[in-house]
Amino acid sequence: MIITIDGPSGTGKSTVAKKVAEKLGFTYFDTGAMFRAIAYGVIANQIDYKNQELLIHFLQSAELTLKNQHGKTHFYLNGSDVTGHLRTAPVTLLSSKISTIKEVRDKLSQLQRDLVKGDISAVFEGRDMGTVIFPKAEVKIFLTAAPLVRAKRRYDELVAKDPSMAQSMTLEKTLQAIQERDERDENREIAPLKAASDAYLIDTSSLSIDEVVEQIITLIKS
Ligand code: C5P
Repeated sequence: MIITIDGPSGTGKSTVAKKVAEKLGFTYFDTGAMFRAIAYGVIANQIDYKNQELLIHFLQSAELTLKNQHGKTHFYLNGSDVTGHLRTAPVTLLSSKISTIKEVRDKLSQLQRDLVKGDISAVFEGRDMGTVIFPKAEVKIFLTAAPLVRAKRRYDELVAKDPSMAQSMTLEKTLQAIQERDERDENREIAPLKAASDAYLIDTSSLSIDEVVEQIITLIKS
């Protein structure tokens, strides 16, 4: 059984998807982290992502593998564990930019579909899981939340992780960055961010993580 959870950033998607998978005993896949791993590789190899030839060459040589270690997924790029490098600001920005490129999406779409070979029960979290990658998924969820609520969540997360961020980052800047990423995701030609016509929409603006998880579990059971 495949469950897809899509939506923009700051809707609580990752935490919710992880918890839903845990509760059901399903495998959880964070597809945003795959885009981030490729973005990290582009940065680490000092590749100009706008140079199509160089980018394609890099993609051809980039082997991305996922390994479960102590219950957590680790992302390996050409044999190196890059998991700890995926949440930096440059990687966040570049992952959003390269996600508009066909060759990048083709490579990761293939990898994502390969993950379900065999009889697997999984929760896939991303932007195009219910629309493009798994259009036949049994349950599709699309999470939304008001932009300011999403920005506040992201800002609080940033500062909780690194209190010194409070000096350089503001709620306004976080909101602007989120809106720029949303705009790129929603308006790209390939696999834009949108709800599948058969997805259940949940507005998480005034819901706790546990309330969203409960709603999804109820939906799945029904
Ligand atoms: O979800 P996360 O913020 O980690 O995703 C990083 C970036 O990858 C997003 O900004 C989005 O542009 C892209 N992405 C995508 N399709 C997915 C998952 C993520 O385009 N299925």
